[in-house]
Amino acid sequence: MAVKIVTSRSVPSTVDVVAVPVGASGAIPREVGLDRDALKKHGFEGSVGSSLAIPGRDLLVIGVGEIRAFDATAARTVGATLARATTRFEHVATSLVDVTSRDAKAIAQAVTEGFSMASYTYTRLKSTAKERNGTLTLVTSTTRAKAADAGVKAGLVMAGAVALARDLANTPPAYLPARVLADRAVEVAKASGLQVEVFDKDKLEVMGCGGLLGVNRGSVEPPRMVRLTHNPRGAVGHLVMVGKGITYDSGGISLKTSDAMHANMKMDMTGAASVLAAMSTLKALGCRTKVTGYLMCTDNRPSGSSVAMGDVLTFRNGKTAEIHNTDAEGRLVLADGLSLAVEQKPDAIVDIATLTGACMAALGNRIAGVLGSHQGFVDQVKQASARTDEPVWQLPLERGYRKLLDSNVADMRNIGGPYGGAITAALFLNEFTGDVPWAHLDIAGPMNVDSDEGWLTRGATGFGARLLATLALDFKRPTGKR
Ligand code: BES
Ligand code: MN
Ligand code: ZN
Repeated sequence: MAVKIVTSRSVPSTVDVVAVPVGASGAIPREVGLDRDALKKHGFEGSVGSSLAIPGRDLLVIGVGEIRAFDATAARTVGATLARATTRFEHVATSLVDVTSRDAKAIAQAVTEGFSMASYTYTRLKSTAKERNGTLTLVTSTTRAKAADAGVKAGLVMAGAVALARDLANTPPAYLPARVLADRAVEVAKASGLQVEVFDKDKLEVMGCGGLLGVNRGSVEPPRMVRLTHNPRGAVGHLVMVGKGITYDSGGISLKTSDAMHANMKMDMTGAASVLAAMSTLKALGCRTKVTGYLMCTDNRPSGSSVAMGDVLTFRNGKTAEIHNTDAEGRLVLADGLSLAVEQKPDAIVDIATLTGACMAALGNRIAGVLGSHQGFVDQVKQASARTDEPVWQLPLERGYRKLLDSNVADMRNIGGPYGGAITAALFLNEFTGDVPWAHLDIAGPMNVDSDEGWLTRGATGFGARLLATLALDFKRPTGKR
């Protein structure tokens, strides 16, 4: 990564600018040389997300809100504000970690995450690349130094994972067919200490993965399934993650219109990217849970060989689905992945997918939908969401809607009715989860943003990478049936 983040006991002599934390109330540090009224006159109130450069002083004030409420979520946002306020400077120092007596590791991690994530840019296809360089020094007291160092290390691992997920999702379709995505997964797995296996078309045929093969049928590119494994000695619990890896979703025969949303369909592999990115952190962060990841990768294209309306596909677990819309392809590739996940007899399964426009219509582009078969496990997903500030909102898995998926010829159709599309999609997936506690993340909304905001940068967000990593790190075997 281009930005270096270190800790120090004092402000290094080489710094270009010092960012002084200022709360929404209370005393202003003396070094600022201005009182609250003077800062207010310039529009600075000390709220989270605000900053003000003091001219001629190599100094800026950075708002941290009410000190009592300064937690990791606030620290992450402030870290992002700091990055955006200091783009012109090479070397920045701040005492943000010493703002509160709370957990120095968590605060240092959050500041690191926020600063790094906000500094992200996708430069690969710019002829004049301007990726941010430079150093952020977190100045901390001696007693907190060790914790702060650990936080910076973890924060860099997390932010590196997010950058990986964003890079993959920002990559245009022609640069990232399923083959290449699988190759990248192998590289990442090797570099981060994961076991990895790649399954090609022949293997998928032998395995009966009719969903992934069916979606792939219209493509000139072969499909890939990738299985990643993190299996630490003496592992407690086993979690499986399944990611939708549609490298480009044209809709297939049910062709999408040529709008801006369609142009974002290179990002339809964000689920797979987030699983890969999350798993890339597990060894470095000392995850004690066994984690298996399945990346279900293909593009979805119209052609003479595409799956047709009325065709019936047979999935890995033997169930069949009649195709009523080839654009409802995510659930078809996930069906095979979930079936394979169940065969592992894990303690829980989470899948993540840019699955439905309906979920985006319901929750907007900031919030992912979560649905599941086991409330205790869904609650673990919500906790990981809160810890990472990757927002989710639970929608009901209303079994009464299952009949909307009934087919005359197969076990089910691949679409429901005109309403409740996020729920009927989840009910389709539920057919493949056996009796394993299961949660489903629909990230169609938050997969991308149109403009920079906080630690989000315009384009792909890498949503889910930190959430899934945290879910794995904090995982507890779900108890009870549901
Ligand atoms: N990849 C799309 C969902 C999507 C839409 C993601 C917008 C991100 C932004 C998915 O494969 C899809 O096309 N879903 C259809 C399902 C429908 C045909 C039942 C949809 O939501 O329109
Ligand atoms: Mn689609
Ligand atoms: Zn899709």
